Formats: sequence, C-alpha cells, structure tokens
Amino acid sequence: MENIILTGFMGTGKSSAGKLLAAELGYGFQDIDTLIVAKEKRSINVIFAEQGESYFRGIETDILASVLQGTKLVVSTGGGAVISEKNRKLMRKSGFVVNLTASPTAVLDRLTGKNDRPLLREGKGLEQIRGMLAEREPYYADADIRIDTTGKNVEDVVREILLILERGV
Ligand code: S3P
Repeated sequence: MENIILTGFMGTGKSSAGKLLAAELGYGFQDIDTLIVAKEKRSINVIFAEQGESYFRGIETDILASVLQGTKLVVSTGGGAVISEKNRKLMRKSGFVVNLTASPTAVLDRLTGKNDRPLLREGKGLEQIRGMLAEREPYYADADIRIDTTGKNVEDVVREILLILERGV
C-alpha cells in the first residue's frame, strides 16, 4: 500500500485515527491542516479571516500534492479538501482513500466547545452541519472505503480499518 488518506467532515476523528493507524502500520503520519498552520505560522481561523477561504484552499492543494509524493504515509486531510476535483484525483491515485463519517449529532457533540473551525464558528448548529454534509456527500463518497465512526472510539475505528486492509479489500 502506497499511502492511506483519511477524508471526512470536521469532527469525524481523522487526525486521531490517522495518528494511531500510522503507529499500528509503522507508517509516517502527516496532517495537512497542521502543515498549513506550520507553513503559514498562523492559525486556520486567522488565515480564513485575513485571506479568505480560496487562499486557504490553494495552500491546502499545494501541501496535499507535495505530501502525496511520499509513500508509506497515513495522511489526514481537512474536511473540505475533498471539494476540489483536483485534490480528489490526486488522493485516489496516490493512495487508499478511507472516508470517515459520523452522524450530524455526533459531529456537533465532538465540536462543541471548540472554536477552531472557521466554517462552523457562528451558530454551530445541527442544521448547518446537516446542510454541509449533504452538500459534500458526493465528494466524501469518492473513497475506497467508508467507515461510520458514530458511537465508536478511535481504537474501534482503527481496528476496523486494519481489518479491512488485512482482508485486502
Ligand atoms: C474545513 C475543515 C478543517 C479545516 C478548515 C476547513 C472544512 O479541518 O481544514 O477549517 O472545510 O471542512 P478538520 O476537518 O480537520 O476540522
């Protein structure tokens, strides 16, 4: 397996599952959002506020493309990375794409009290989450496998992914 790429909405646990999965497989781990913050030396909130979403998306694509030149990596992507067709093609050709899903209520529970997602900052409500999930559904569906994380902890999710990988799906 070249790389394993985790996609999914905010709060589906991509970063925590990615870290553990990488450790279990002996792969490297890369988190695209973390790399963006390190490169820009400012938070995602500040990047969105100062330069807007399209600037952020440009950097996201650049960093994704450069990371995906590597192999034996588990890569966690930001929730909106799948919107770009270019990104989706890049991901499908450079690795096995695992989409993590969660119910709107689970997403809301996991994000409550956090203020680091500029797209869900004001009125972080169920309706907004449902709307964004519905809009993005076709892009999240563009994956090799999909795992529902609702009601599961990180260990459960990683075990599920490992079982599927071992079976060679
Ligand atoms: C975004 C998700 C965030 C981050 C940015 C935009 C999105 O990543 O990339 O706030 O559009 O869904 P997480 O999914 O890691 O929260």
